[in-house]
Parts: sequence; structure tokens; C-alpha cells
Amino acid sequence: MPVDRVAAFAGELVAHVRKSLVRHEISYADYQTIKRFLIDVGEADEWPLLLDILFEQTVETFNAVDGAGVGAVEGPFHVPDAPVRHSPCALPQRPDEPGQALRLTGAVRAPDGTPLPGAVLDTWQADATGGYSHFAPELPAYLLRARVVTDTAGRYDIRTVLPGAYQVPAAGPSGRLFALLGKHPWRPAHVHFTISAPGHRPLTTQLYFADDPWLDSDVAEAVKDELVLKPRPEDRDLVAEYDFVLATEEPG
Ligand code: DHB
Ligand code: FE
Repeated sequence: MPVDRVAAFAGELVAHVRKSLVRHEISYADYQTIKRFLIDVGEADEWPLLLDILFEQTVETFNAVDGAGVGAVEGPFHVPDAPVRHSPCALPQRPDEPGQALRLTGAVRAPDGTPLPGAVLDTWQADATGGYSHFAPELPAYLLRARVVTDTAGRYDIRTVLPGAYQVPAAGPSGRLFALLGKHPWRPAHVHFTISAPGHRPLTTQLYFADDPWLDSDVAEAVKDELVLKPRPEDRDLVAEYDFVLATEEPG
């Protein structure tokens, strides 16, 4: 039962924290510092970000689904109800959207290789400066977000721009924590997907780009080699190909 698991986890977490308080002989001043930090994270509305960065990768990895392609963390920036676009298509952009033009293309397949027409790739990414619409207030709603439907051959072909690397806001409590831990606050540039098709388990994953300076030191430790693409130049665009595999829904 999930509730029992969560209860057992909660009890163990409290016991671990108490042990660490004793082991490090935490003073009253230290305790107030720690308490203030935890309250600050909430007041800055950074819990979704901080929890996903610290812990989602761990949960995602051992919940991988047999038969599916390689998954990755969802992170805190998905927004439901993005506009629907039929492939080939572009993600919603501003006129003269800044950044290197990028085409992402490939197929969505079942484990036996059968292409899946009508599969939906819910796609979201940062703009070239690393900002996500709905979270960076200057960006228009649904910028670089769409639910892309595969064509009759189960293929997708998405025109977008190369995302910028994402930086955890340096001025907030999460940024202060990473500085304290001697970690930089960057995630490598990436495009998010949650892909679904009738009769199949949805797959949440991300694609990364070779030569990104943060691939080996992602603050969320979420990069997997299989998800790193090497885009090729084509005219003035970059083009990258990737096939997604969705596991079959278990009967019953
Ligand atoms: C996290 C994931 C992301 O994709 C992102 O852009 C920011 C944070 C995360 O794991 O918390
Ligand atoms: Fe992201």
C-alpha cells in the first residue's frame, strides 16, 4: 500500500534527521539557521524545484518501466493543456524567436518496433536564455510548449530553437544551498517530453545535446548517455533524430 510506504519513509526520515542533529552537535544557532532555510524555500516557492533536483532522479531511475525507452525526470516546469499541433509542426514561438533553429525528428514506437501514429508528445523546453514560459514572467503563455501528434507513419518532426542551459535561481535559498555545498547551479540544455499513446505506458524523458558544458555535472544528476543527441547542421538549422519507445500497457 503506498500510504504505508510513505508512512514508513516519514518515520525513518525523522529518525535520520534526529541522528544527524546529534552526530553534528547542532547548536541552537545552527538549528535556527536550518529552520530559517527550510522556511525560506517555502516562502520563495522553491520546494517543487529543490525537491525535484535533489530527489526525483533517484525515484525515476528505479521506477523505470521494462520494455520502454530510457526515461528521465519530469522536473517542476511541466504545464498541462499545451496547444495541440500535428507533425510536422513548430513549437509556439515569438516572431524572431532568439536562438539556433533546431529540428527534432524521429518515430514513436512500440517495443517490437511498430510505429505509433496518433501518439502525443507533450513537449516543453526553456528558451535560448534558459527561461520556461509560465515560470519566467516575461515569456508569453505556452511559449515552446505543445502537444505534438505523430503522423500516419508514427513520426514526429518538430521545429524549435536550441534551449539554453537552465540555472537554478542563484539569489534564492536553493541557489544558496548549492553554493554552500560547493555545487554549481546549472542543468545542461534539454527538451522535455511526456509521450503517450493508447494501449501504452506514458514515457517521460528529456533529450540533451553533445558538447554542452554541464552534461557531466548536472545539478540534478539526471543526464543519461543514451539521451544525449549529436545534432547535424542542415542548411541553417541543426537537426537531431531520436526514436522513443513506449512499453505496452499491462492487461487488467
Ligand atoms: C529539474 C529538472 C528540469 O528539467 C529543470 O529544467 C529544472 C529542474 C529538476 O530535476 O528539478
Ligand atoms: Fe527542464
